[in-house]
Amino acid sequence: MAEKITIFDTTLRDGEQSAGAGLSWDEKLEIARQLERLGVDVIEAGFPASSPGNLATVQQITREIRSPVIAALARCVPGDIDAARDALKDAAKPRIHVFISSSDIHLTHQLRTSPEEMMDQAIQSVERAKQYSDDVEFSPMDATRTDWDFIYRLVKAAIDAGATTINIPDTVGYAVPEEFGELIKSVFTNVPNINKAVVSVHCHNDLGLASANSLSAIQNGARQIEVCVNGIGERAGNASLEEVVMAIKTREDLLGFKTGIDTKQIHRTSRLVSDFTGFTIQPNKAIVGLNAFRHESGIHQDAMIKAPITFEIMTPESVGVPGSSLVLGRQSGRHALETRLSELGYEVSKEDMVRVYTAFTDLADKKESVTDRDLEALVSEDRRTTKEEQYVLEHVQALSGAPAVPTATVRITDPEGKEHTSSSVGTGPVDAVYQAISEIVTVSNRLVEYRVEAVTEGLDSMADVTIRIEGDGTTYVGRGADTDIVVASARAYVDALNRLIAVKNRATSVIKDSGK
Ligand code: KIV
Ligand code: ZN
Repeated sequence: MAEKITIFDTTLRDGEQSAGAGLSWDEKLEIARQLERLGVDVIEAGFPASSPGNLATVQQITREIRSPVIAALARCVPGDIDAARDALKDAAKPRIHVFISSSDIHLTHQLRTSPEEMMDQAIQSVERAKQYSDDVEFSPMDATRTDWDFIYRLVKAAIDAGATTINIPDTVGYAVPEEFGELIKSVFTNVPNINKAVVSVHCHNDLGLASANSLSAIQNGARQIEVCVNGIGERAGNASLEEVVMAIKTREDLLGFKTGIDTKQIHRTSRLVSDFTGFTIQPNKAIVGLNAFRHESGIHQDAMIKAPITFEIMTPESVGVPGSSLVLGRQSGRHALETRLSELGYEVSKEDMVRVYTAFTDLADKKESVTDRDLEALVSEDRRTTKEEQYVLEHVQALSGAPAVPTATVRITDPEGKEHTSSSVGTGPVDAVYQAISEIVTVSNRLVEYRVEAVTEGLDSMADVTIRIEGDGTTYVGRGADTDIVVASARAYVDALNRLIAVKNRATSVIKDSGK
């Protein structure tokens, strides 16, 4: 019988560390809910010592998400381990994950300590974590560039100190599959107490080998894989959840493993993470890219009609890609919209449906057919603009031309419900709109990225604008969708400002609550 591989998802920790990801606390909670639905075994919810807001968010996740194990990351220092303990105090299944650099390169240039001192620190830290939680994971960071004999000694000591999972990270994505498999195999033959722990792997994708390395590891004894949805994460990202899970499922004949993942939730999870992080998915991305199940060449199409197995090794339905039988339009009623949204995996409440339906009819008046991608954009837009205590964009008007001075007027309601109107000129209509908004929402920030994409083909397509702003040393994403590019841009800016303000307010309230 196929043996189960534990899926440890670190989208909310390593994934959130990606440059520019910047998730708000309620987005993290929503992703955690979706990860629970997806059936991951472990959710690494954050790095509590990194900020009071991070600690509070992990706490909040543990209070609501009860099925998976919730892990919190900590460096091998007492303060970090205590912060992880505090964050996990209400968890149904807590895990403290301690890590320390082990390679000579890191010890010399980063930690500036000797291997023996570092080993003592690791042992003391695992022992400290063990006082707070039975479930302790230990990671020697940069393991793939560490002397193998030293890894064996360190891993043995960590298990003796109480570690129940030993994670072997390929921190810089340096390993290649055969070599990595050898390392994992050698851990089993050279660490005498290894049967007291689960061996895990955490592969980065700098050479595009993260998924292949993870699979090689399970063929050599690892039983936990650490992954991120859409493969996000530090630099080139982590092993991608959907790739690893679907490889295990599709090649069960060869590999002989299974996971507890409900693969029909993959598409939905991928969209949610992409939507919240603002990281769009490349069309040819395995499993979740737009083209992953599209067949363009005539020969392929012909064969697919005769027998899908000719060019399809897994079905789109198996990863939750909705069938494309229904295209909505002006004549479609509320029931058709509700049905399609539910087929797409959206649970929209009755109250929200009133607004989404109005937005849908507005769009259907402008566009001949409303596709799934349009519907996804509509629901995302609704989710972004209906949070409490935020600035709401009520009206945008912009004038541009050549020759002309681009001018814009905006009306915005503040969190107290007070309306403000402002007009400004700029180098173009978007700049004018941003200047006008900045006169009302006076929070210091710098625009670092502005990107427009068409949601669908055709001139009547909705524009999906993604921006990133920097404020207080952090990057915040903002998104907006509309058939009018200037309106979409204005929405994206207000969305980003709302996130920046929410994080600021949350940090202040967490500090107030803790009496610091
Ligand atoms: O890449 C890495 O080594 C990590 C550790 C904290 C596990 O993310
Ligand atoms: Zn990592």
